[in-house]
Amino acid sequence: RADSPVVVVANRLPVDQVTDPDGTTRWQRSPGGLVTALEPFVAGRGGAWVGWSGSAGGAPEPFESGGMQLIPVGLEEEEVDRYYEGMSNASLWPLYHDVVEKPEYHRTWWDTYVQVNKRFADRAAEVAGEHAIVWVHDYQLQLVPAMLRQRRPDLTIGFFLHIPFPPYELFTQLPWRSAIVEGLLGADLVGFQRPSAAANFVQLARRLHELPARGHTVEYDGRTVTARAFPISIDVAAFDELASSPEVLARAKEIRAELGNPERIILGVDRLDYTKGISVRLAAFEELLEDGALEAPGTVLVQVATPSRERVEHYVHMRETIEQQVGHINGIYGSIGGPAVHYFNQSMPREELAALYRAADVMLVTPYRDGMNLVAKEYVAARGDLGGALVLSEFAGAAAELKQAFLVNPHDIAGVKNQLVRALRVEPAEGARRMRAMRRHLFKNDLEHWATSFFDALRARA
Ligand code: UDP
Ligand code: G6P
Repeated sequence: RADSPVVVVANRLPVDQVTDPDGTTRWQRSPGGLVTALEPFVAGRGGAWVGWSGSAGGAPEPFESGGMQLIPVGLEEEEVDRYYEGMSNASLWPLYHDVVEKPEYHRTWWDTYVQVNKRFADRAAEVAGEHAIVWVHDYQLQLVPAMLRQRRPDLTIGFFLHIPFPPYELFTQLPWRSAIVEGLLGADLVGFQRPSAAANFVQLARRLHELPARGHTVEYDGRTVTARAFPISIDVAAFDELASSPEVLARAKEIRAELGNPERIILGVDRLDYTKGISVRLAAFEELLEDGALEAPGTVLVQVATPSRERVEHYVHMRETIEQQVGHINGIYGSIGGPAVHYFNQSMPREELAALYRAADVMLVTPYRDGMNLVAKEYVAARGDLGGALVLSEFAGAAAELKQAFLVNPHDIAGVKNQLVRALRVEPAEGARRMRAMRRHLFKNDLEHWATSFFDALRARA
C-alpha cells in the first residue's frame, strides 16, 4: 500500500502489544519521551507509523489508531536480544550517554542490528507514497536512511536523534563507526537535540570519512546533507490544561493528604535508567536528613522509577542499587505509615503524573546525561500556578533552555544538596519569577514548533 505522504519510522509504535496472564493480548501506550513527542504530530497529519509491536514474534496486521496508520514490524526473540537489548541498549545507549556504563560490542549484535534495520527500511519503502517524506527516529535505526535511499531515491528522508551524539573521541570506539555515519548520511536532514551534537556529527564526517564539510553541511555522494539542532519539546498548552483541570487539581490535593500532608514534597519521575542519576538524588536526600537540614516526615521524596529494559544487565543492577538505597533510607528515617521515600517501580498514567507535578514543591531531575528530558518540561508546563521549583542537571538537553532552573552538576553531591535546599526554601516571588520565565520559553518552543521547524527544513529539501 504505497500511498502514505508522511511516514514516521521508529523502533516502537506508540502502543505496545502486551499479553495478559489469561493469554489475551491488548495494546497499551509505549514508554518514553519519543512517543510522547511524536504521537500528536503523526496523529495530526494522518501519517503512517512503522514500528515494532513491543513483543517477540511475527508482525500483527497494520491497523488504524487515533488518526494514524500503524504498521507493525515483527522481531523474533533472538532479534529482540541482539538488536534491541544488545546493540541498541547495551552498546549504543551507553556509548552515546558519555559511557556512564561501559558499552559492550559484539559482532552478532551488530549483524542483527543490520538485519533489523533492513526490515524497517523495507517496510517504510513499501508504505511510502511517491515522493513522500519519511522521518526516521533514534539510535536503534541509524542505518535506515541509507538503506531507504537505496531502494527509494524519490523520497525525502529526515532523521532525528533523540539522545545525545558523542564527540569524535568516544564515537570512534565503535567497531562499526563508518557504517553508522554512512547510514545517517543517507538522510537529507539529520536533526539533533543540541548544536554541539550536530557539530560532533559534521566533525566525524570530515575527520573519519574525509568528506567536504562546512558549518551545518556535509557533501556526500553528490548530495548535500544538513545536520542541525532541533531541541524537542512537548505539547505545552495541552499539558498546562490537563494539569489545571479540576480532576487533576483534586487528585493533587488528595496525593498531599495521602502522603500525610508533609510540609515539603520532592519528586523524581524517570524510566529506571542508569543515565538518570536516581542514586545521586537518593544519596543527596539521605545526607540532608542525616545532617538535619531536612526532617522526615516533614519532607518526603516521591520517586517514580518506571520499569525499563529489564533484561539488560546494567538495568538489573541499577534497580538493585536503588531499591537498596530506598530501603536503607526508610529503615532509618521512616516511621509506621510514614516512609521518607515513596518509591514506585511502576508506570504512571499522564493524569497521575500531572497531579504529582502539581503536588510537588521541588522536582528533582539529575541525569548524568540526557538528550533532552521531557519530564523537566512537563513539570514547568504543569505549574500554571507558578508554584514549585525545578532542580535540573546541567547535563540534560533541557538545561540549555530552562535556564532559570536550579542547575546542578550531578557528579557534585554537595552542589546537589545545596541547590535542593535552595529550591526548597525559595521565596514564593522568586520561585514565581523563575517559573514564569521558563513557561514563557516553553510556550514559544513547544512540540508544534519543533515538528514544524524540522518538517519545514526537510520539505525545503524535497
Ligand atoms: N512517563 C510516563 N509514565 C511514567 C514515567 C514517565 O508517561 O510512569 C512519560 C513522561 O511523562 C515523559 C516520558 O515518559 O513524557 C519520559 O520522557 P523523558 O524525555 O523525560 O525521558 P526518556 O524516558 O525518553 O529517557
Ligand atoms: C528514550 C529513547 C526512545 C525509547 C524510550 C523508551 O526516550 O530515546 O527511543 O523508545 O527511551 O525506551 P524503550 O527501550 O522502552 O523503547
